[in-house]
Amino acid sequence: MEWPELESAVTSLASGATILELGTGQGSMFRYLAGLLARNPGCSLLTLDADPRAAEGARRHLRTLPPVLRQRISAVSAEIVDWAGSQRSSCHLVVASAFLSAVPLTRPFGLDEVIEAIGTLLLPSGMLFLEDYLPLPPPGLSAEAGSWACALWRWYKALAELAGLPHHVEWPPSWVAARLRERGFTCIRWVADERQPIRSDASWQAVVGGQCPGRPPGIDDGLWFALDRYRRDLEARIGRCGLVQWSGSYRLRARRIT
Ligand SMILES: C[S@@+](CC[C@H](N)C(=O)[O-])C[C@H]1O[C@@H](n2cnc3c(N)ncnc32)[C@H](O)[C@@H]1O
Repeated sequence: MEWPELESAVTSLASGATILELGTGQGSMFRYLAGLLARNPGCSLLTLDADPRAAEGARRHLRTLPPVLRQRISAVSAEIVDWAGSQRSSCHLVVASAFLSAVPLTRPFGLDEVIEAIGTLLLPSGMLFLEDYLPLPPPGLSAEAGSWACALWRWYKALAELAGLPHHVEWPPSWVAARLRERGFTCIRWVADERQPIRSDASWQAVVGGQCPGRPPGIDDGLWFALDRYRRDLEARIGRCGLVQWSGSYRLRARRIT
């Protein structure tokens, strides 16, 4: 991983500064930050994830690091909104990679509360670095096939949500920036890496098949019938125009107003 702006932000932090990483996950960003910390012996890193397996993975990685570095890094298993409620502003830098898109929609709070929690945890003038996936292009702006790909993705997410499986909802950086501005962030800049849609002859089942949930347990017969009919309708339309595969990501940085 390379993120030059983040790298210079970490290396120029004053001694005693704290970095908070949100959404440890598989640990790619965590390992990158831990590596950067070696270049700034004055600061510490805390990584947080609601899933206890993520914190365990991070602790396993910590055991491979030199003790002098390890003692400045810790991992906690907590849900961000709950955790922020019991903390005061203490972080100089917050980093989140593929975190916002992974916040489950089935929780009683929304993404607004998550963004508010980030603002609570950052000290005035503290910096936020976010990277995440771009949403599929909105219907109408892309080819017809692109809009069917969006519809297929929505269907998949509806089923995953009903089945209680992890799934992702991507938000455009403009939306994230607007929410940050409302919550006292300034100097918001982002860059997007948009990949062109690729018309593919691959069947849509092959593309989503590996992660596609079956009928969620306990689901009402009528609802399942409607969802499955929607799927069959999508299948027929995608069969006619081919499947568009599209992906992209963005990186955003912002400063909390003093
Ligand atoms: C896609 S993973 C992040 C990938 C990771 N940053 C990396 O670089 O490998 C998203 C993580 O966010 C965590 N997560 C989602 N919502 C959360 C929340 N509200 N509070 C804490 N962690 C959350 C999930 O448990 C998941 O492990």
